[in-house]
Amino acid sequence: MISLIDALADGNTDDASWRRHLLPIWGSKVVPHCLGKGLVIEPMSGLGAQGYYLATEIGADYFGFDIEPAVVAAARAKNLRRASFECLDALSFPRPKRRADVLLLGYEAINAFPWPIQTKLLDWCGAVCAQNATLIIDFLSREARLPRFDLHHESRTLNTFIPRGDRLLTLSWELPNLLPRRSTRFTPYTKDLIDKLRELGGVVVDCQEPFSNAPTTKQCLTQMKTLIVKMP
Ligand SMILES: C[S@@+](CC[C@H](N)C(=O)[O-])C[C@H]1O[C@@H](n2cnc3c(N)ncnc32)[C@H](O)[C@@H]1O
Repeated sequence: MISLIDALADGNTDDASWRRHLLPIWGSKVVPHCLGKGLVIEPMSGLGAQGYYLATEIGADYFGFDIEPAVVAAARAKNLRRASFECLDALSFPRPKRRADVLLLGYEAINAFPWPIQTKLLDWCGAVCAQNATLIIDFLSREARLPRFDLHHESRTLNTFIPRGDRLLTLSWELPNLLPRRSTRFTPYTKDLIDKLRELGGVVVDCQEPFSNAPTTKQCLTQMKTLIVKMP
């Protein structure tokens, strides 16, 4: 099986396709809401591809953090301009030195945790956002209608999706070696997420599925929603 770093870096992986074809589409939806902002913060940043893309498009500084030391080392080794990376656990709810003008919970960040922890993460977002910050949340909602089977051609992975309450189990077999892999995502209802954001004083200005017509075979991505929230 490929390592997390290989998956996050360019190569013949799902993540490479996400970067090559999809980031500009995502950017066209979010950039107009972030112009003039000074600092983008991205928890669970991986190598920072998504948040750093946004930061460069709007001419902002970037701060990303990730729990995996090897991922942080690889991100730092890229020597990106106006970017810094730290090894931090998002669930320690760290307080960065500067508040975020744009806070990004990117693809698969919020879905990594069950709802009680998602709400704590959103409380943390409220605490680290500067005044009038833009909060961007990519997520797969409980309403998503995924096929039971999905052959993701680019990485030649066969996926089976099994929804169980708030969990979406994905069983994957990578071809040709057929190594099995199991992953779990926690899918919130869109309404619950929006109600929670309103409780924090946020105003939802946009909620789209940016990749609904995008050139990807990855069904989860076509149904990913992007919420854009103006914070108080
Ligand atoms: C799907 S990847 C990030 C993808 C990123 N949006 C991109 O486009 O490259 C998820 C990342 O979350 C990190 N992660 C998982 N749990 C974490 C936690 N509790 N705190 C910080 N990072 C975490 C993983 O190490 C992994 O790098």
